[in-house]
Amino acid sequence: MSDQQTATTSASATGEPGREQWTSRFGFIMAAVGSAVGLGNMWRFAYIASEHGGAAAVLLYVVLTFAVGVPVLIAELVLGRASGRSPIGAMRKELGRGWAPFGFLFILAGALILSYYAVIAGWVLRYALVAITSPFPADAGTYFTDMAAGGPAILFQIVIMAVTVLVVARGVGSGIERLSSFMMPALFLILVGLAIWAATLPGGDEGYAYYLVPRFSELFSLETLAASTSQAFFSLSLGMGAMLTFASYLPRDANLPRDSATIAIADFGVAFVAGLVVFPVVYALGLQSAVSGSTVGALFISLPGAFAAMGGVGRVVGMFFFVALLFGAITSTVSLLEVVVSSMMDERKLRRPVAALIAGGFITLIGLWSALDTNALGFLDAIANSVMLPLGGLVIALGVAWKMPNAIAEAGTGASPRIVKLLTGWLWVLRIAVPPLLIVVLYETIPAAIEAGRVLFGGS
Ligand code: TRP
Repeated sequence: MSDQQTATTSASATGEPGREQWTSRFGFIMAAVGSAVGLGNMWRFAYIASEHGGAAAVLLYVVLTFAVGVPVLIAELVLGRASGRSPIGAMRKELGRGWAPFGFLFILAGALILSYYAVIAGWVLRYALVAITSPFPADAGTYFTDMAAGGPAILFQIVIMAVTVLVVARGVGSGIERLSSFMMPALFLILVGLAIWAATLPGGDEGYAYYLVPRFSELFSLETLAASTSQAFFSLSLGMGAMLTFASYLPRDANLPRDSATIAIADFGVAFVAGLVVFPVVYALGLQSAVSGSTVGALFISLPGAFAAMGGVGRVVGMFFFVALLFGAITSTVSLLEVVVSSMMDERKLRRPVAALIAGGFITLIGLWSALDTNALGFLDAIANSVMLPLGGLVIALGVAWKMPNAIAEAGTGASPRIVKLLTGWLWVLRIAVPPLLIVVLYETIPAAIEAGRVLFGGS
């Protein structure tokens, strides 16, 4: 009971009176983990690990997550809780008027990511349903190409967006928190179960070896560093105010550094365990060639192909796998939409359901582009995920570290004395370690985004 009470009484210290609140610490953590855990964990992590040196890349990724991701995550939570506002208001209030336009950039990034993320989530929904009604298609490659773009893709994209709007319209506590508090534990249990099952597969050893034996020679390139950093950002939902917005619903006594660590551990844990499912399954069936072909290849062609080849068992296992993936995806689309909706409520005084409907409708329309053309999807991913998020992370790190005089006090509010001692170090990481790293990322990703644009718009 006392938890609940402190949450409500201390709440008045932040934000507008009457701002929505999480109903418990667990609920906030589940919602934040729900945002973090998603397609990125199962779709991109395994791919990046395998392309860039196996366990060597996994190690690098862990270091980046905790040395760079967590400090930026704390910075986002600090901005959100200190201001009790969504991105635009948070930057205006804590960093100064001139920073408010970056808030718009965040909202734009969120809208763009959601537009294509919902299309991919639609593919996932489709596979989850396929498994219930019929065996997986034997020719997964053709099946995927046929359904990835056009009418079927649009249909499932709209279903995903509709569910997302419904959840967000219900609000922070009874919508987002309730959904995540069920879906995240379920996802974790399913994945662990699948990893144990995968360990029994004959022929999976080679898959584990590829995943877990470090190949350090592949590690030391700017490209690997950039890919791992931007993956850590995407996976932790950093750089566009999603975590910031979630923190605006927190009470003053929440322990931001500790919660950040918990979120990062859960996010990495899910990605790692997902790899323990994907690699043995794909290798046991000799389907590894499709994995390196493309990022979506592993998830939407190799795996379904493997499940199809396993007959009845494959159907059950595959259904569980895609349901888990769906849970991860839906809790992420919800967090993306929440940034836009929360901003419309704060800045335009719209009612939540109205804002959810308008934003959801508009983003669905943008998403049609990706649903009709997978090159458009790749282009938007290159712009929003690879360029806008690192840029957003840079803005947050520089803003909190140089323009927020009370940053350390704000980060320390609710934290234990032991953690408070580390906060000076945190500020210096934001000041001098994070910016150069993000600039390296941008140096690698901006040309890639331009290249994706050239592919899309018909150059050579
Ligand atoms: N983190 C999610 C994933 O790994 C995607 C995501 C949700 C996201 N919300 C975000 C990424 C906000 C960046 C910003 O799939």
